[in-house]
Amino acid sequence: MWVAAPTATQAADGLGPLYNARGCAACHPKGGGGRPPDPAAAEDQGVGFALKMNDDPVYGRQIQSNAIPGQIAEGRPTVRYREETVRFPDGDTARLRRPTYGIANLGYGPLAATTRLTPRVAPRVHGMGLLDAIPDDAVEAEAAKQREEGVVAGRPNHVPMDGALRVGRFGWKASNPSLDRQNSEAFSLDIGMSTPSFRDPWGDCTAAQTVCRAGPHGDSKQFEGLEIPSSIIGLIDGYLRDLPPEGGLEPPKDAAGTALFAAVGCASCHKPSYTTAPDPARPALSNRTVFPHSDLLLHDMGDGLADEVPMFQARGRDWRTTPLWGLNRLAAQDGRLTLLHDGRARSVTEAILWHGGEAEKSRKNFMDLPREARKRLVRYVLGL
Ligand code: HEC
Ligand code: HEC
Repeated sequence: MWVAAPTATQAADGLGPLYNARGCAACHPKGGGGRPPDPAAAEDQGVGFALKMNDDPVYGRQIQSNAIPGQIAEGRPTVRYREETVRFPDGDTARLRRPTYGIANLGYGPLAATTRLTPRVAPRVHGMGLLDAIPDDAVEAEAAKQREEGVVAGRPNHVPMDGALRVGRFGWKASNPSLDRQNSEAFSLDIGMSTPSFRDPWGDCTAAQTVCRAGPHGDSKQFEGLEIPSSIIGLIDGYLRDLPPEGGLEPPKDAAGTALFAAVGCASCHKPSYTTAPDPARPALSNRTVFPHSDLLLHDMGDGLADEVPMFQARGRDWRTTPLWGLNRLAAQDGRLTLLHDGRARSVTEAILWHGGEAEKSRKNFMDLPREARKRLVRYVLGL
Protein backbone atom coordinates (compact mmCIF):
# COMPACT_ATOMS: atom_id res chain seq x y z
CA MET A 1 0.00 0.00 0.00
CA TRP A 2 1.37 3.41 -0.95
CA VAL A 3 0.73 6.75 0.74
CA ALA A 4 0.92 10.44 -0.19
CA ALA A 5 4.32 12.20 -0.21
CA PRO A 6 6.14 13.42 1.74
CA THR A 7 6.88 10.87 4.47
CA ALA A 8 9.90 10.30 6.70
CA THR A 9 11.07 7.08 5.05
CA GLN A 10 10.31 7.97 1.41
CA ALA A 11 10.12 4.24 0.71
CA ALA A 12 6.35 4.04 0.28
CA ASP A 13 5.31 7.56 -0.63
CA GLY A 14 4.34 9.26 -3.88
CA LEU A 15 0.75 8.04 -4.18
CA GLY A 16 -1.19 10.00 -6.81
CA PRO A 17 -1.75 12.95 -6.66
CA LEU A 18 -4.72 11.35 -8.47
CA TYR A 19 -5.17 7.58 -8.22
CA ASN A 20 -7.64 4.71 -8.33
CA ALA A 21 -6.30 2.55 -5.52
CA ARG A 22 -3.40 2.47 -3.04
CA GLY A 23 -2.03 -0.89 -4.09
CA CYS A 24 -2.27 -3.77 -6.54
CA ALA A 25 -4.21 -6.03 -4.16
CA ALA A 26 -7.02 -3.48 -3.75
CA CYS A 27 -7.99 -4.25 -7.37
CA HIS A 28 -6.64 -7.80 -7.73
CA PRO A 29 -7.66 -9.28 -4.36
CA LYS A 30 -5.83 -12.59 -3.88
CA GLY A 31 -4.88 -12.32 -7.54
CA GLY A 32 -8.53 -12.70 -8.54
CA GLY A 33 -10.72 -10.55 -10.73
CA GLY A 34 -12.63 -7.35 -9.99
CA ARG A 35 -16.28 -6.43 -10.36
CA PRO A 36 -18.18 -3.38 -11.69
CA PRO A 37 -19.97 -0.87 -9.42
CA ASP A 38 -23.27 -2.14 -8.00
CA PRO A 39 -25.96 0.25 -9.26
CA ALA A 40 -28.18 -0.65 -6.28
CA ALA A 41 -25.56 0.45 -3.71
CA ALA A 42 -25.09 4.22 -3.37
CA GLU A 43 -21.66 5.45 -4.51
CA ASP A 44 -20.28 1.91 -4.85
CA GLN A 45 -17.10 1.98 -6.98
CA GLY A 46 -16.89 -1.76 -7.56
CA VAL A 47 -13.57 -3.58 -7.10
CA GLY A 48 -10.74 -3.15 -9.59
CA PHE A 49 -13.04 -1.36 -12.00
CA ALA A 50 -11.58 1.39 -14.20
CA LEU A 51 -12.94 3.60 -16.96
CA LYS A 52 -10.28 4.01 -19.61
CA MET A 53 -10.55 6.48 -22.53
CA ASN A 54 -9.12 7.28 -25.94
CA ASP A 55 -6.86 10.01 -24.47
CA ASP A 56 -9.07 12.86 -23.29
CA PRO A 57 -7.16 16.22 -23.52
CA VAL A 58 -7.96 16.97 -19.85
CA TYR A 59 -8.61 13.62 -18.15
CA GLY A 60 -5.98 11.56 -19.98
CA ARG A 61 -6.21 7.78 -20.45
CA GLN A 62 -8.17 6.76 -17.34
CA ILE A 63 -10.57 8.31 -14.82
CA GLN A 64 -8.81 8.47 -11.45
CA SER A 65 -11.57 8.32 -8.88
CA ASN A 66 -9.49 9.25 -5.82
CA ALA A 67 -7.13 12.09 -4.87
CA ILE A 68 -4.71 12.83 -2.04
CA PRO A 69 -5.66 15.70 0.33
CA GLY A 70 -5.69 19.09 -1.43
CA GLN A 71 -6.38 17.59 -4.86
CA ILE A 72 -9.64 16.98 -6.75
CA ALA A 73 -10.60 13.48 -7.94
CA GLU A 74 -11.69 13.16 -11.58
CA GLY A 75 -15.05 11.52 -10.94
CA ARG A 76 -16.79 8.29 -10.00
CA PRO A 77 -17.64 5.68 -12.65
CA THR A 78 -21.32 4.71 -12.75
CA VAL A 79 -23.19 1.97 -14.55
CA ARG A 80 -26.86 1.38 -15.34
CA TYR A 81 -28.14 -1.97 -16.65
CA ARG A 82 -31.08 -2.77 -18.86
CA GLU A 83 -32.17 -6.39 -18.44
CA GLU A 84 -32.94 -8.38 -21.57
CA THR A 85 -34.27 -11.90 -22.01
CA VAL A 86 -32.71 -14.37 -24.44
CA ARG A 87 -34.79 -17.38 -25.44
CA PHE A 88 -33.15 -20.69 -26.44
CA PRO A 89 -34.75 -22.76 -29.24
CA ASP A 90 -35.88 -25.30 -26.60
CA GLY A 91 -37.76 -22.63 -24.64
CA ASP A 92 -35.22 -22.05 -21.85
CA THR A 93 -34.40 -18.42 -21.13
CA ALA A 94 -31.42 -16.44 -19.84
CA ARG A 95 -31.23 -12.85 -18.61
CA LEU A 96 -28.52 -10.49 -19.87
CA ARG A 97 -27.72 -7.04 -18.49
CA ARG A 98 -26.80 -4.41 -21.10
CA PRO A 99 -24.67 -1.67 -19.49
CA THR A 100 -24.49 2.10 -20.01
CA TYR A 101 -21.57 3.90 -18.35
CA GLY A 102 -21.25 7.40 -17.02
CA ILE A 103 -19.15 9.48 -14.61
CA ALA A 104 -20.59 11.19 -11.54
CA ASN A 105 -18.96 14.33 -10.05
CA LEU A 106 -16.67 15.18 -12.97
CA GLY A 107 -13.92 17.23 -11.31
CA TYR A 108 -12.46 19.05 -14.32
CA GLY A 109 -15.42 19.98 -16.53
CA PRO A 110 -16.99 17.93 -19.33
CA LEU A 111 -15.13 15.26 -21.31
CA ALA A 112 -14.14 16.23 -24.87
CA ALA A 113 -16.87 15.50 -27.44
CA THR A 114 -14.59 12.91 -29.10
CA THR A 115 -13.79 11.03 -25.87
CA ARG A 116 -15.20 7.51 -25.62
CA LEU A 117 -15.14 5.40 -22.48
CA THR A 118 -13.86 1.84 -22.31
CA PRO A 119 -14.80 0.08 -19.06
CA ARG A 120 -12.48 -2.62 -17.67
CA VAL A 121 -12.53 -4.91 -14.67
CA ALA A 122 -9.27 -6.17 -13.23
CA PRO A 123 -8.51 -9.60 -14.73
CA ARG A 124 -7.31 -12.60 -12.76
CA VAL A 125 -3.52 -12.38 -12.53
CA HIS A 126 -2.44 -15.97 -11.87
CA GLY A 127 -0.27 -17.66 -14.51
CA MET A 128 1.14 -14.38 -15.91
CA GLY A 129 4.70 -15.72 -16.00
CA LEU A 130 3.69 -18.57 -18.29
CA LEU A 131 1.75 -16.27 -20.64
CA ASP A 132 4.77 -13.94 -20.72
CA ALA A 133 6.98 -16.90 -21.71
CA ILE A 134 4.95 -17.87 -24.81
CA PRO A 135 7.12 -16.84 -27.78
CA ASP A 136 5.86 -14.08 -30.11
CA ASP A 137 6.51 -16.47 -33.03
CA ALA A 138 4.08 -19.05 -31.68
CA VAL A 139 1.30 -16.46 -31.47
CA GLU A 140 2.10 -15.24 -35.01
CA ALA A 141 2.02 -18.85 -36.26
CA GLU A 142 -1.44 -19.35 -34.75
CA ALA A 143 -2.69 -16.20 -36.54
CA ALA A 144 -1.27 -17.54 -39.83
CA LYS A 145 -3.01 -20.88 -39.25
CA GLN A 146 -6.33 -19.13 -38.60
CA ARG A 147 -5.92 -17.05 -41.81
CA GLU A 148 -5.35 -20.25 -43.77
CA GLU A 149 -8.26 -22.18 -42.24
CA GLY A 150 -10.68 -19.25 -42.51
CA VAL A 151 -12.95 -20.23 -39.59
CA VAL A 152 -11.98 -17.33 -37.29
CA ALA A 153 -9.62 -14.43 -38.03
CA GLY A 154 -7.48 -13.69 -34.94
CA ARG A 155 -4.77 -11.06 -35.27
CA PRO A 156 -1.91 -10.30 -32.89
CA ASN A 157 -1.77 -6.81 -31.39
CA HIS A 158 1.60 -5.32 -32.38
CA VAL A 159 2.88 -2.90 -29.77
CA PRO A 160 6.10 -0.85 -29.97
CA MET A 161 8.52 -1.67 -27.13
CA ASP A 162 12.27 -0.97 -26.85
CA GLY A 163 12.43 0.09 -30.50
CA ALA A 164 10.77 -3.04 -31.91
CA LEU A 165 7.22 -4.31 -32.46
CA ARG A 166 6.26 -7.00 -29.96
CA VAL A 167 3.16 -9.18 -29.71
CA GLY A 168 0.83 -7.69 -27.07
CA ARG A 169 -0.72 -10.21 -24.67
CA PHE A 170 -1.72 -8.50 -21.39
CA GLY A 171 -4.85 -6.41 -20.85
CA TRP A 172 -8.30 -7.00 -22.39
CA LYS A 173 -7.06 -5.68 -25.75
CA ALA A 174 -3.60 -7.27 -25.53
CA SER A 175 -2.11 -3.78 -25.38
CA ASN A 176 0.92 -4.77 -23.31
CA PRO A 177 3.68 -7.06 -24.62
CA SER A 178 5.43 -7.81 -21.32
CA LEU A 179 4.63 -8.36 -17.68
CA ASP A 180 7.15 -5.75 -16.59
CA ARG A 181 5.55 -3.12 -18.78
CA GLN A 182 2.01 -4.07 -17.66
CA ASN A 183 3.02 -3.71 -14.01
CA SER A 184 4.79 -0.38 -14.59
CA GLU A 185 1.76 0.98 -16.42
CA ALA A 186 -0.43 -0.03 -13.47
CA PHE A 187 1.79 2.03 -11.15
CA SER A 188 1.34 5.03 -13.43
CA LEU A 189 -2.37 4.82 -14.35
CA ASP A 190 -3.88 3.16 -11.28
CA ILE A 191 -1.67 4.34 -8.40
CA GLY A 192 -0.01 7.49 -9.80
CA MET A 193 3.59 6.46 -9.19
CA SER A 194 6.67 6.76 -11.41
CA THR A 195 8.79 3.79 -12.55
CA PRO A 196 11.76 3.42 -14.93
CA SER A 197 9.36 2.97 -17.90
CA PHE A 198 6.70 5.58 -16.96
CA ARG A 199 8.75 8.40 -15.38
CA ASP A 200 6.12 11.09 -14.68
CA PRO A 201 5.45 11.26 -10.90
CA TRP A 202 1.96 12.64 -11.58
CA GLY A 203 0.88 9.48 -13.42
CA ASP A 204 -2.00 10.13 -15.81
CA CYS A 205 -2.45 13.88 -15.05
CA THR A 206 -2.40 15.95 -18.25
CA ALA A 207 -0.81 19.39 -18.75
CA ALA A 208 -4.31 20.86 -18.28
CA GLN A 209 -4.37 19.48 -14.71
CA THR A 210 -1.86 22.00 -13.35
CA VAL A 211 -2.66 21.54 -9.66
CA CYS A 212 -2.02 17.80 -9.95
CA ARG A 213 1.24 18.29 -11.81
CA ALA A 214 2.40 20.81 -9.18
CA GLY A 215 1.30 18.50 -6.33
CA PRO A 216 3.62 16.63 -3.95
CA HIS A 217 5.48 13.63 -5.34
CA GLY A 218 7.78 10.99 -3.95
CA ASP A 219 10.64 10.88 -6.46
CA SER A 220 13.75 10.48 -4.37
CA LYS A 221 17.47 10.33 -5.00
CA GLN A 222 18.05 6.99 -3.32
CA PHE A 223 15.43 5.43 -5.64
CA GLU A 224 16.93 6.39 -9.02
CA GLY A 225 15.04 9.72 -8.86
CA LEU A 226 11.76 7.77 -9.02
CA GLU A 227 8.93 6.74 -6.73
CA ILE A 228 9.23 3.04 -7.65
CA PRO A 229 12.82 2.04 -8.51
CA SER A 230 13.73 -0.97 -10.67
CA SER A 231 14.38 -3.10 -7.56
CA ILE A 232 10.73 -2.79 -6.43
CA ILE A 233 9.33 -3.34 -9.93
CA GLY A 234 11.60 -6.41 -10.06
CA LEU A 235 10.07 -7.78 -6.84
CA ILE A 236 6.48 -7.32 -8.04
CA ASP A 237 7.37 -8.72 -11.40
CA GLY A 238 8.94 -11.79 -9.78
CA TYR A 239 5.98 -12.30 -7.44
CA LEU A 240 3.46 -12.30 -10.30
CA ARG A 241 5.73 -14.30 -12.61
CA ASP A 242 5.84 -17.13 -10.07
CA LEU A 243 2.13 -17.08 -9.17
CA PRO A 244 0.95 -20.32 -10.81
CA PRO A 245 -2.39 -20.55 -12.63
CA GLU A 246 -5.24 -22.14 -10.66
CA GLY A 247 -5.62 -24.88 -13.25
CA GLY A 248 -4.42 -25.40 -16.79
CA LEU A 249 -1.09 -27.08 -16.01
CA GLU A 250 -2.39 -30.45 -17.23
CA PRO A 251 -4.64 -31.21 -20.22
CA PRO A 252 -8.35 -31.36 -19.28
CA LYS A 253 -9.34 -34.92 -18.23
CA ASP A 254 -12.93 -34.82 -19.52
CA ALA A 255 -12.49 -36.12 -23.09
CA ALA A 256 -16.17 -35.78 -24.02
CA GLY A 257 -16.14 -32.18 -22.75
CA THR A 258 -13.04 -31.45 -24.81
CA ALA A 259 -14.74 -32.82 -27.92
CA LEU A 260 -17.87 -30.74 -27.28
CA PHE A 261 -15.79 -27.57 -26.66
CA ALA A 262 -14.16 -28.10 -30.07
CA ALA A 263 -17.33 -29.12 -31.92
CA VAL A 264 -19.19 -25.96 -30.83
CA GLY A 265 -16.24 -23.87 -32.08
CA CYS A 266 -14.97 -22.57 -28.74
CA ALA A 267 -11.51 -24.07 -29.26
CA SER A 268 -10.98 -22.05 -32.46
CA CYS A 269 -10.21 -18.98 -30.32
CA HIS A 270 -9.87 -20.52 -26.85
CA LYS A 271 -6.90 -22.53 -28.19
CA PRO A 272 -6.24 -25.17 -25.55
CA SER A 273 -2.43 -25.06 -25.31
CA TYR A 274 0.80 -23.23 -26.03
CA THR A 275 4.40 -24.24 -25.30
CA THR A 276 6.62 -21.69 -23.55
CA ALA A 277 10.10 -20.73 -24.77
CA PRO A 278 13.18 -22.48 -23.38
CA ASP A 279 14.69 -20.34 -20.60
CA PRO A 280 17.48 -21.95 -18.56
CA ALA A 281 17.34 -19.05 -16.07
CA ARG A 282 13.71 -19.87 -15.19
CA PRO A 283 13.24 -23.65 -15.25
CA ALA A 284 9.68 -23.45 -13.84
CA LEU A 285 8.55 -21.47 -16.89
CA SER A 286 10.83 -23.04 -19.50
CA ASN A 287 9.67 -25.20 -22.40
CA ARG A 288 6.36 -26.21 -20.83
CA THR A 289 3.11 -27.05 -22.57
CA VAL A 290 0.35 -25.29 -20.64
CA PHE A 291 -3.42 -24.98 -21.14
CA PRO A 292 -4.59 -21.35 -20.81
CA HIS A 293 -7.30 -21.86 -23.44
CA SER A 294 -6.50 -18.64 -25.32
CA ASP A 295 -4.83 -17.94 -28.66
CA LEU A 296 -3.78 -14.51 -27.23
CA LEU A 297 -5.13 -12.99 -30.46
CA LEU A 298 -7.63 -10.19 -31.08
CA HIS A 299 -11.05 -11.05 -32.48
CA ASP A 300 -13.94 -8.92 -33.71
CA MET A 301 -16.61 -9.77 -31.12
CA GLY A 302 -19.45 -7.76 -32.65
CA ASP A 303 -21.44 -4.68 -31.64
CA GLY A 304 -22.74 -5.96 -28.30
CA LEU A 305 -19.25 -5.89 -26.75
CA ALA A 306 -17.76 -3.01 -28.83
CA ASP A 307 -16.25 0.00 -27.05
CA GLU A 308 -15.10 1.85 -30.20
CA VAL A 309 -11.76 2.61 -28.52
CA PRO A 310 -8.74 1.37 -30.50
CA MET A 311 -5.48 0.40 -28.75
CA PHE A 312 -2.53 -0.04 -31.12
CA GLN A 313 -3.78 -2.64 -33.66
CA ALA A 314 -6.90 -3.49 -31.65
CA ARG A 315 -9.99 -1.85 -33.15
CA GLY A 316 -13.27 -0.81 -31.57
CA ARG A 317 -14.86 -4.26 -31.72
CA ASP A 318 -11.72 -6.29 -30.96
CA TRP A 319 -10.90 -8.09 -27.74
CA ARG A 320 -8.18 -10.57 -26.77
CA THR A 321 -9.45 -14.12 -26.25
CA THR A 322 -9.62 -14.40 -22.47
CA PRO A 323 -7.61 -17.28 -20.95
CA LEU A 324 -10.13 -19.59 -19.24
CA TRP A 325 -7.79 -21.43 -16.88
CA GLY A 326 -8.77 -21.17 -13.23
CA LEU A 327 -11.86 -19.19 -14.16
CA ASN A 328 -14.09 -20.76 -11.56
CA ARG A 329 -11.67 -20.38 -8.71
CA LEU A 330 -10.64 -16.81 -9.40
CA ALA A 331 -13.50 -15.05 -11.15
CA ALA A 332 -14.50 -12.99 -8.15
CA GLN A 333 -13.34 -12.54 -4.60
CA ASP A 334 -16.73 -13.31 -3.12
CA GLY A 335 -17.55 -16.46 -5.05
CA ARG A 336 -19.73 -14.73 -7.66
CA LEU A 337 -18.72 -14.98 -11.29
CA THR A 338 -17.96 -11.65 -12.96
CA LEU A 339 -16.99 -12.20 -16.57
CA LEU A 340 -16.09 -10.26 -19.76
CA HIS A 341 -14.01 -7.07 -20.00
CA ASP A 342 -16.51 -4.98 -18.02
CA GLY A 343 -17.85 -7.70 -15.72
CA ARG A 344 -21.36 -7.58 -17.14
CA ALA A 345 -21.76 -11.38 -17.38
CA ARG A 346 -22.73 -13.24 -14.19
CA SER A 347 -22.33 -16.76 -15.56
CA VAL A 348 -20.54 -18.68 -18.29
CA THR A 349 -23.85 -18.90 -20.18
CA GLU A 350 -24.28 -15.11 -20.12
CA ALA A 351 -20.67 -14.64 -21.29
CA ILE A 352 -21.24 -16.97 -24.26
CA LEU A 353 -24.51 -15.22 -25.18
CA TRP A 354 -22.62 -11.89 -25.52
CA HIS A 355 -20.24 -13.47 -28.09
CA GLY A 356 -20.89 -11.99 -31.57
CA GLY A 357 -18.85 -11.04 -34.62
CA GLU A 358 -16.35 -13.82 -35.38
CA ALA A 359 -17.90 -15.87 -32.56
CA GLU A 360 -21.47 -15.54 -33.83
CA LYS A 361 -21.54 -19.04 -35.27
CA SER A 362 -20.17 -20.56 -32.10
CA ARG A 363 -22.83 -18.74 -30.01
CA LYS A 364 -25.55 -20.12 -32.32
CA ASN A 365 -24.13 -23.63 -32.03
CA PHE A 366 -24.26 -23.31 -28.26
CA MET A 367 -27.86 -22.09 -28.28
CA ASP A 368 -28.91 -24.99 -30.51
CA LEU A 369 -27.41 -27.64 -28.18
CA PRO A 370 -29.82 -29.75 -26.13
CA ARG A 371 -30.16 -28.48 -22.54
CA GLU A 372 -28.02 -31.27 -21.05
CA ALA A 373 -25.17 -30.62 -23.50
CA ARG A 374 -25.25 -26.88 -22.71
CA LYS A 375 -24.94 -27.67 -19.00
CA ARG A 376 -22.13 -30.08 -19.69
CA LEU A 377 -20.19 -27.46 -21.71
CA VAL A 378 -20.60 -24.87 -18.95
CA ARG A 379 -19.37 -27.40 -16.35
CA TYR A 380 -16.40 -28.16 -18.57
CA VAL A 381 -15.44 -24.47 -18.83
CA LEU A 382 -15.76 -24.04 -15.05
CA GLY A 383 -13.35 -26.94 -14.57
CA LEU A 384 -10.56 -25.68 -16.85
C1 HEC B 1 -7.65 0.45 -10.12
C2 HEC B 1 -7.55 -0.98 -10.13
C3 HEC B 1 -6.21 -1.59 -10.45
C4 HEC B 1 -5.03 -1.48 -9.74
C5 HEC B 1 -4.72 -0.63 -8.52
C6 HEC B 1 -4.09 -2.38 -10.40
N1 HEC B 1 -4.70 -3.00 -11.47
FE1 HEC B 1 -3.86 -4.40 -12.65
N2 HEC B 1 -5.45 -4.31 -13.89
C7 HEC B 1 -6.58 -3.54 -13.69
C8 HEC B 1 -7.39 -3.53 -14.89
C9 HEC B 1 -8.71 -2.80 -15.08
C10 HEC B 1 -6.68 -4.32 -15.84
C11 HEC B 1 -7.07 -4.56 -17.31
C12 HEC B 1 -6.35 -3.49 -18.10
C13 HEC B 1 -6.61 -3.46 -19.58
O1 HEC B 1 -7.53 -4.08 -20.06
O2 HEC B 1 -5.84 -2.79 -20.29
C14 HEC B 1 -5.49 -4.81 -15.17
C15 HEC B 1 -4.55 -5.68 -15.74
C16 HEC B 1 -3.45 -6.19 -15.09
C17 HEC B 1 -2.60 -7.25 -15.59
C18 HEC B 1 -2.79 -8.03 -16.89
C19 HEC B 1 -3.66 -9.23 -16.69
C20 HEC B 1 -4.05 -9.94 -17.97
O3 HEC B 1 -4.66 -11.00 -17.89
O4 HEC B 1 -3.76 -9.48 -19.05
C21 HEC B 1 -1.59 -7.42 -14.68
C22 HEC B 1 -0.44 -8.39 -14.75
C23 HEC B 1 -1.81 -6.44 -13.63
N3 HEC B 1 -2.97 -5.73 -13.89
C24 HEC B 1 -0.97 -6.26 -12.55
C25 HEC B 1 -1.10 -5.20 -11.64
C26 HEC B 1 -0.08 -4.80 -10.68
C27 HEC B 1 1.29 -5.45 -10.51
C28 HEC B 1 -0.59 -3.74 -9.98
C29 HEC B 1 0.09 -2.90 -8.89
C30 HEC B 1 1.31 -2.21 -9.31
C31 HEC B 1 -1.93 -3.50 -10.49
N4 HEC B 1 -2.19 -4.40 -11.50
C32 HEC B 1 -2.77 -2.54 -9.99
C33 HEC B 1 -6.91 -2.88 -12.51
C34 HEC B 1 -5.98 -2.54 -11.55
C1 HEC C 1 -14.05 -15.73 -32.24
C2 HEC C 1 -13.33 -16.13 -31.06
C3 HEC C 1 -14.08 -16.74 -29.91
C4 HEC C 1 -14.90 -17.87 -29.91
C5 HEC C 1 -15.28 -18.72 -31.11
C6 HEC C 1 -15.32 -18.07 -28.55
N1 HEC C 1 -14.77 -17.11 -27.74
FE1 HEC C 1 -15.06 -16.92 -25.74
N2 HEC C 1 -14.08 -15.13 -25.77
C7 HEC C 1 -13.48 -14.57 -26.87
C8 HEC C 1 -13.06 -13.22 -26.55
C9 HEC C 1 -12.34 -12.27 -27.49
C10 HEC C 1 -13.46 -12.97 -25.23
C11 HEC C 1 -13.32 -11.67 -24.44
C12 HEC C 1 -14.56 -10.80 -24.71
C13 HEC C 1 -14.76 -9.64 -23.76
O1 HEC C 1 -14.27 -9.68 -22.63
O2 HEC C 1 -15.45 -8.67 -24.13
C14 HEC C 1 -14.08 -14.21 -24.75
C15 HEC C 1 -14.58 -14.42 -23.46
C16 HEC C 1 -15.09 -15.62 -22.99
C17 HEC C 1 -15.49 -15.88 -21.62
C18 HEC C 1 -15.37 -14.91 -20.45
C19 HEC C 1 -14.08 -15.18 -19.70
C20 HEC C 1 -13.79 -14.17 -18.63
O3 HEC C 1 -12.99 -14.50 -17.74
O4 HEC C 1 -14.27 -13.04 -18.66
C21 HEC C 1 -15.95 -17.18 -21.58
C22 HEC C 1 -16.47 -17.92 -20.35
C23 HEC C 1 -15.86 -17.71 -22.92
N3 HEC C 1 -15.33 -16.73 -23.74
C24 HEC C 1 -16.23 -18.98 -23.28
C25 HEC C 1 -16.41 -19.39 -24.60
C26 HEC C 1 -17.09 -20.60 -24.99
C27 HEC C 1 -17.63 -21.64 -24.04
C28 HEC C 1 -17.11 -20.61 -26.36
C29 HEC C 1 -17.81 -21.60 -27.26
C30 HEC C 1 -19.25 -21.65 -27.12
C31 HEC C 1 -16.42 -19.41 -26.81
N4 HEC C 1 -16.02 -18.69 -25.71
C32 HEC C 1 -16.17 -19.09 -28.12
C33 HEC C 1 -13.30 -15.17 -28.09
C34 HEC C 1 -14.02 -16.28 -28.54
